[in-house]
Amino acid sequence: MSVFDPAMADYLGNLGRRGEDPLLEEMLNYGRERNFPLIGPEVGRFLYQLTVLMGAKRIFEMGSGYGYSALWFARALPEDGEIYLTDGEAENMTKAREFLTRDGQDQKAIFLTGYAQDLLQTTPGHFDILFCDIDKEQYPEVLDLARDRLRVGGALVIDNLIWGGRVADVENDQLSTRGVRAFTDRMWESKDFASSLLPIRDGVGLCVKLR
Ligand SMILES: C[S@@+](CC[C@H](N)C(=O)[O-])C[C@H]1O[C@@H](n2cnc3c(N)ncnc32)[C@H](O)[C@@H]1O
Repeated sequence: MSVFDPAMADYLGNLGRRGEDPLLEEMLNYGRERNFPLIGPEVGRFLYQLTVLMGAKRIFEMGSGYGYSALWFARALPEDGEIYLTDGEAENMTKAREFLTRDGQDQKAIFLTGYAQDLLQTTPGHFDILFCDIDKEQYPEVLDLARDRLRVGGALVIDNLIWGGRVADVENDQLSTRGVRAFTDRMWESKDFASSLLPIRDGVGLCVKLR
């Protein structure tokens, strides 16, 4: 389901389908063949812009899959920047290392396998950007984790807040849908963040830490 008018959904989808470059295209195809959910080029472009705009140097990703979103971030980081990739599946991290190495971005990347929430807590220091794309029922706990680990002025970016329109379906009581709704309520109500829900693809939450 798209939340957009069908003609508009087609227009935006066609923009997304225009090739970026061979490696990103290969990664998209790798995902399509496996039915693996990715942020896609629309959100990728936004992450790239945000990284440049913020002059970000330290990024932590929760739920990296095989590195598609991380590649967008890594390309936007300066040479001395760093991005932590995390995923529960070791196989995904192996593949992510392979893709980022092929693009010459592996020097900026730290590949961690395990539960992203634990890895965030055991990785020292503060981050400019925290990107979250983990299982949706876990979303409600992410705002508190981010508050502790972002610098002031840093941003939590979180994908899928539209969740295919399910968030607006009052009869949808799935754990994942409830998780996305609960996170959105929290970000909206928090005085520690300036937050908005950007309707890019499946909805991107942008929460800027104020204090
Ligand atoms: C939607 S995919 C990530 C896609 C990736 N961000 C991209 O667009 O390239 C979600 C990934 O998060 C992982 N995952 C889900 N919950 C997790 C958690 N709590 N800790 C670590 N990995 C998790 C899954 O194994 C899966 O690979």
